[in-house]
Amino acid sequence: IPVQPFDYVVFGATGDLTRRKLIPALYYRFKDGQFDEQSRIIGVSRSKLSDADFQKVARTAISEFVDKEYQDKAVIDRFVSIFSYIVNDVSNEAGWGDLKGALREEPEVVRAFYLAVAPNLFEPIAEYLAKKKFYRRDARVVIEKPLGHDLESSMEINDGVAKIFREDQVYRIDHYLGKETVQNLLALRFANMLFEPIWNSAHIDHVQITVAETVGAGTRGYYDESGALRDMIQNHMLQLLCLVAMEPPASDDANALRDEKLKVLRSLKPITNGEVGKMTVRGQYRGISSETVSVKSYQDELPEEKKGSRTETFVAVKAEIENWRWAGVPFYLRTGKRMAKRVSEICIQFKPIPHSIFDHAEGAPRSNKLIIRLQPDEGVKLMMMIKDPGPGGMRLREVPLNLSFAQTFAERTPEAYERLLLDVVRGNQTLFMRRDELEAAWKWVDPIREAWEASTDPTQIYTAGTWGPTAAIALIERDGRTWHEDEY
Ligand code: BG6
Repeated sequence: IPVQPFDYVVFGATGDLTRRKLIPALYYRFKDGQFDEQSRIIGVSRSKLSDADFQKVARTAISEFVDKEYQDKAVIDRFVSIFSYIVNDVSNEAGWGDLKGALREEPEVVRAFYLAVAPNLFEPIAEYLAKKKFYRRDARVVIEKPLGHDLESSMEINDGVAKIFREDQVYRIDHYLGKETVQNLLALRFANMLFEPIWNSAHIDHVQITVAETVGAGTRGYYDESGALRDMIQNHMLQLLCLVAMEPPASDDANALRDEKLKVLRSLKPITNGEVGKMTVRGQYRGISSETVSVKSYQDELPEEKKGSRTETFVAVKAEIENWRWAGVPFYLRTGKRMAKRVSEICIQFKPIPHSIFDHAEGAPRSNKLIIRLQPDEGVKLMMMIKDPGPGGMRLREVPLNLSFAQTFAERTPEAYERLLLDVVRGNQTLFMRRDELEAAWKWVDPIREAWEASTDPTQIYTAGTWGPTAAIALIERDGRTWHEDEY
């Protein structure tokens, strides 16, 4: 079913985000017939392009970032025909006249502004939109990280946008929330009877959340200022933690869900200065060079003036949630670049059975594990004990009850932005971060970073292609547990 017709205005129209993510995502949705015929995409940036040039940018983005089998010449022709372009220097009032003709006044045409630009431009853009009368009470604004580098700067950004836009007009993207498997966490927990009664400290020993990437980071200018704690933990990983840990929301209403996530964030036990060494590990990769592989160290990827940087490309944290449901259940989070494998998953480790009757069996019962694989090979796996088939007495064996999305469903798994971009048009904020959530997340993250900065301890070095510094293994093994890795 098509969404309402829209004017999607993309500031930063020639940037990386627009080319890599936004245009391909919009294309997939267009191809699936989700656009009303009257919909328009209006690119805005300083570069002096014509409509035709911008349409060419769109074509190139599609050929580069859309799966070959979905590239359909006739569809692409129709798609790019809804693209137009406006040269606009957002920091300069004189450059602001041209948008007028591009936007339609009919109330049924949704007006959305996607600010794919640096956050210091959010406030001036919002103000010009109001001043030049492009703002409408029902217009929507979409923003994305870095939404600040700490609590204070994040509040400034939010205040700047809030000068013009009400909170219910602001769509803060955390693209992890748009991932199919992340949304599936909601279905898994709240559309099944099975899990919720045991989803608590009485039955769960601990939770692990891993987001491991094989790509490096040193060549991305922004990364060295940010580091893995800000880049991944503050947003994506904490959002995943919230979805695992939150209470059942009253409904699927956006605020009902976000209220519950906020409660989790506010229940996170602060990691104090004295504890930071025990509860966190930060690492940085060192390259490898052999006959078959050669990977640069993070340091070697940095420009000259940044050499010697202590920025972390890996973080492991033991997080604790101080509430009734989770008291005593640690959440171990780890994320890193240049890890052994690209894999994102959540592992719920259940407690051991209270008593084993299998005195004469071969093999001892192992505790159940529920593994939710976010990417790649999306799926859900429940590790359980069975009797090994055949004669020869009782032999206990651990086997997975395995749901692979690729094998079960024929459809392509949509990219995160596909869902999110159209949810903006639908006016559905469920999968977007509310201001208070973002700020609660910074409040928990800031002291960790401050303690690291104040500390003279070096960032731990790990070799590219491994699972991070040995200290990260020690972090969990100290508690008598291990990282879930045996499947890889
Ligand atoms: C981004 C981070 O938000 O998420 C990147 O800035 C990271 O550093 C990326 O690589 C991971 O996203 P995905 O969808 O590839 O898991």
